[in-house]
Amino acid sequence: MSHTERRLSVSSTIIALAIAGTVLQAKADTIPASPVHSDVAEGDRLAHTLCVSCHVVDTIGPLIRTDRVPSFSWIANQEGLTRTTLPAWLNRSHERMPDLSLTRDEIREVSAYILSLRRK
Ligand code: HEC
Repeated sequence: MSHTERRLSVSSTIIALAIAGTVLQAKADTIPASPVHSDVAEGDRLAHTLCVSCHVVDTIGPLIRTDRVPSFSWIANQEGLTRTTLPAWLNRSHERMPDLSLTRDEIREVSAYILSLRRK
């Protein structure tokens, strides 16, 4: 293989990889912006890691405020709670609940999870 040929085959490999990357990226972009089901699953996981030390985070626990920390099912069933008000609340800082510095994705996921606890 001459020097030039080798260079060509190396660069065509790079081009092929670049194309594959673009195709994969394009595929990722077609996934819906808010896959609600996986948000709920990830929010469930987050709640059981980040919030469980203070809150009752699932429907197994009592539906009341315990030690002045509301359970997630109590929160979920509050009147006026929506897909907008919940993330907005989590975005602000609060007197009694420490700022957990949640990312925007985490807020969306944990909100989807809490809202999934609503009694229908
Ligand atoms: C260190 C304890 C602590 C942790 C950890 C914690 N919280 Fe809280 N949370 C509180 C307290 C205390 C309140 C009550 C605040 C109040 O009434 O002002 C509260 C209130 C809330 C409320 C508002 C309920 C209402 O009154 O409408 C929401 C929503 C909430 N927490 C979500 C979360 C989420 C989501 C996480 C995990 C990502 C989390 N909290 C982690 C202590 C905590």
